[in-house]
Amino acid sequence: MTPTTREECAALDAADPLAPLREEFVLPEGVIYLDGNSLGALPRSTPGRVADMIEREWGQDLIRSWNTAGWWDKPRTLGAKVAPLVGADPDEVVVGDGVSANLFKVLIAALRMSDRSVVLGEAGNFPTDLYVTEGAVGLAGATQRRIDPDGPALGEALAAGDVAVVLLSHVDYRTGTLRDMPGITRTAHDHGALVVWDLCHSAGAVPIDLSGCGADFAVGCTYKYLNAGPGAPAFLYAARRHHPVVDQPLSGWHGHARPFDFTADYEPAPGVSRFLSGSQPLVADAALEASLDVWAKADMDLVRAKSLAMTDLFLRVTGEAGLVSATPLDHGRRGSQVALLQPEEGSGYPIVQALIERGVIGDFRAPDVMRFGFTPLYLRYVDVFDAATALVEVVRTGEWREERFAQRAQVT
Ligand SMILES: Cc1ncc(COP(=O)(O)O)c(C=O)c1O
Repeated sequence: MTPTTREECAALDAADPLAPLREEFVLPEGVIYLDGNSLGALPRSTPGRVADMIEREWGQDLIRSWNTAGWWDKPRTLGAKVAPLVGADPDEVVVGDGVSANLFKVLIAALRMSDRSVVLGEAGNFPTDLYVTEGAVGLAGATQRRIDPDGPALGEALAAGDVAVVLLSHVDYRTGTLRDMPGITRTAHDHGALVVWDLCHSAGAVPIDLSGCGADFAVGCTYKYLNAGPGAPAFLYAARRHHPVVDQPLSGWHGHARPFDFTADYEPAPGVSRFLSGSQPLVADAALEASLDVWAKADMDLVRAKSLAMTDLFLRVTGEAGLVSATPLDHGRRGSQVALLQPEEGSGYPIVQALIERGVIGDFRAPDVMRFGFTPLYLRYVDVFDAATALVEVVRTGEWREERFAQRAQVT
C-alpha cells in the first residue's frame, strides 16, 4: 500500500532490505537526488579504485598491467559483470566505446544480416538513436522509418514485410514508458526482422531478460542507473547465435582473432569480442568496475519492487496536487522515472530550477516534461515524500516565477 504520511515512509525505510546499500554511495548533505536516471551517484569505493588503477596499475606496474591487471580483457570481464543485469550470458556482452558508436556498429551489422533495407525506429527516441540511424542507413543504402511504438503503428509497419531491423528504447527517455520486450521481439521475429534494444533507461532500472526474450542486439550506457560516472564506457550485447556470422563495420585490432600477430588482414574474433574496435578508457573502466561490484550486491526484483513503490508514492502526492503524469500508471508499462507535464506553457524549466534551489535535483526535457528518476539503491521513501511535497509547494506558491529560475543553462 502506498504510504500517505512521512511517518509511514520512515517505517518503510526502516524495513527496506535495500537500505544498507545507500551507505555505499556519496550523497551530498541536503540534496535529494532524483537525477540518477541521467548521471548516477558516486559509489564510495570508486575514488579508491580509480586511484589504485592510476597509482599502482599505471604508475608502478606500467605497461605490465596489460597482462597483470587484466587490462586487455577488461571489455570482456566488465561485460560479464553487466550480463546478469541484462539477462545475458557472460560471453554475450562487451564493454567499450559509447552508446552512439555501439549503436552504429550493431545497426550496420544487423543490416548486413538481412536482405531487407528498412530500419524501423521510434519518432520520439533519444536523438542520438535517430541521428546514428540516419548516418547508418545513409552509408548502407537503407532507409529509416519512424513510428510511435506504443500504438498500432508498430505491428502495421512490420506487416509490410520490408523491415530489416527494429530499433527501440526499452524505456522511453522522456515519458518513462516501459516497452514489452518479449512481445515486441517476438512480433518482429515473426515478421522476419531483427531487434536492437537501447537499454540506457532500463539497465539497473528494471529487470531485463535479453536471452529469455530472444533479443538480437542491445546497447546501453553505464553512467545512469549503473553509477559508473560521466561519460563512462557503454556496453553491447549480441546474442550468441549471431556471433559466427555477424560483421560489424568498425573492424579494429581489439576485435581481431589474433591481435598480437599484427597481420595485415582483418579476421574477426570468434565471439562478441569482434564488436570491439580499439583501445579502451581503462581509467573509466576502473570506475565502472567499482560500481558494478556494488550492483552485484543488489537483488533486481527488490530494486523493481522498491522502484514501483517509490514512483507510486511520487505520482500519488503530485497527482493529488493536480500535476499530470506522462508516465503510465500501469506498473507493467512504467520504468523507474516519473515524467510530469509542465502545468503551464514555459513553466517546466523554471519549476525544476526552483526545486533544485531547494535541494531536490530533477531535470527538464524539452518541450514540456519535468523528469524525476528513482534509484532504489540510494533513495529512501522519506526522500521521495519530501521531494514530492517540495515540488507541490513550488508549484502552489508560484515561487518558480522568480526571474532567476528562467535563466537557461547549457545542460538542462
Ligand atoms: C536512450 C538513450 N540512448 C543514448 C543516449 C546517449 O548516448 P551516448 O552515451 O553515446 O551519449 C542516451 C542519453 O541520455 C539515451 O537516453
